[in-house]
Amino acid sequence: MKTILVPGGAGFIGSHTVSALLAQGYHTVTLDNFSNGHRDAVVGGDIIEGDIRDAELLAKIFSDRAIDAVIHFAAFIEAGESVVDPLKFYDNNTSGSLTLIRAMTNAGVQNIVFSSTAAVYGQMEEATSLSEDMPKAPINPYGQSKWAVECMLRDTATTGALKAVALRYFNAAGADPFGKLGERHDPETHLIPLILQAASGQRDNIKMFGTDYATPDGTCVRDYSHVCDLADAHVKALSHLLALPETGSGEAAGFYDAFNLGTGTGFSVREVIESAKRVTGTNFTVVEEGRRAGDPAQLVANPAKAQKTFNWQPAYPNLDDMVAHAWQFMQKNAANT
Ligand SMILES: NC(=O)c1ccc[n+]([C@@H]2O[C@H](COP(=O)([O-])OP(=O)(O)OC[C@H]3O[C@@H](n4cnc5c(N)ncnc54)[C@H](O)[C@@H]3O)[C@@H](O)[C@H]2O)c1
Repeated sequence: MKTILVPGGAGFIGSHTVSALLAQGYHTVTLDNFSNGHRDAVVGGDIIEGDIRDAELLAKIFSDRAIDAVIHFAAFIEAGESVVDPLKFYDNNTSGSLTLIRAMTNAGVQNIVFSSTAAVYGQMEEATSLSEDMPKAPINPYGQSKWAVECMLRDTATTGALKAVALRYFNAAGADPFGKLGERHDPETHLIPLILQAASGQRDNIKMFGTDYATPDGTCVRDYSHVCDLADAHVKALSHLLALPETGSGEAAGFYDAFNLGTGTGFSVREVIESAKRVTGTNFTVVEEGRRAGDPAQLVANPAKAQKTFNWQPAYPNLDDMVAHAWQFMQKNAANT
């Protein structure tokens, strides 16, 4: 049985991935400092409370256990906060990842799947779907802190020390369809849970920032992926890495590649709001505000490379399914708290 270390496995996408790994017969070791994660979201495997910036702890984990691969989610994720406090993001996301990658290479652990983001692309031409080779020009420290890690992985792979895959997610959404796991960010800044908070009366209204973009209905368009589809892509990316030949002290080349994860279809803010009204059967107040600085009109993935390489096909590309699963989790979670 292969053992996978999952830093950040108690978070939103990490917890769904741990669940998917366990279902596929892997043993998981979740490493999380619980700064934003939840212990009860880790449905199995081992749990270690700790920080990826703790080099001693990492050395001990890699010497005590036969770790075959790392799937690395641990990071701070709020782009807006990263503009206000960039060093917090470079410290955790970039320096933390450096410590992790160094500990891996010291211990001879070769395989890593890294959570990257569409934020590495920065502002793109409107109405362009993004493929992996497009220019990297992050517009905030969050995106930059992730792009720096991709560069680190690419350059370390070139030495033959690593086999690495970076997965660039667009917008993660939805929840486990069985209602056990879901999104619990605090504070919440993601559109679908915010809209559902308006639908459930936890907030007075939902604000729509910008209605005059060059999009079909004037609101921003984003590519949403169901979190279970993202989890599935991680398991497939991991199998891809594990099937590659082992690298050996400079003789065999390492491996690095990056893949977009999205459905390739964009939904506008208005469409997401309409979906939430349909799914929840509620009506709620929508307030139209001006544009927010730094919001591109459209961010849609070209996911062809991941689909072809990993034979990955999203099982839940339908927006109503994503909203329904998130709604189900929100209601169940509210009933339990
Ligand atoms: N949610 C999205 O839509 C989205 C989009 C693109 C990329 N990503 C990336 O995916 C990853 C997971 O995102 P998420 O939405 O699940 O976020 P999340 O905040 O729910 O999960 C991150 C987890 O990492 C843990 N963590 C943070 N710093 C740590 C550290 N130093 N040591 C140990 N654990 C630490 C947190 O406690 C949390 O459990 C992140 O790397 C994020 O940048 C997310």
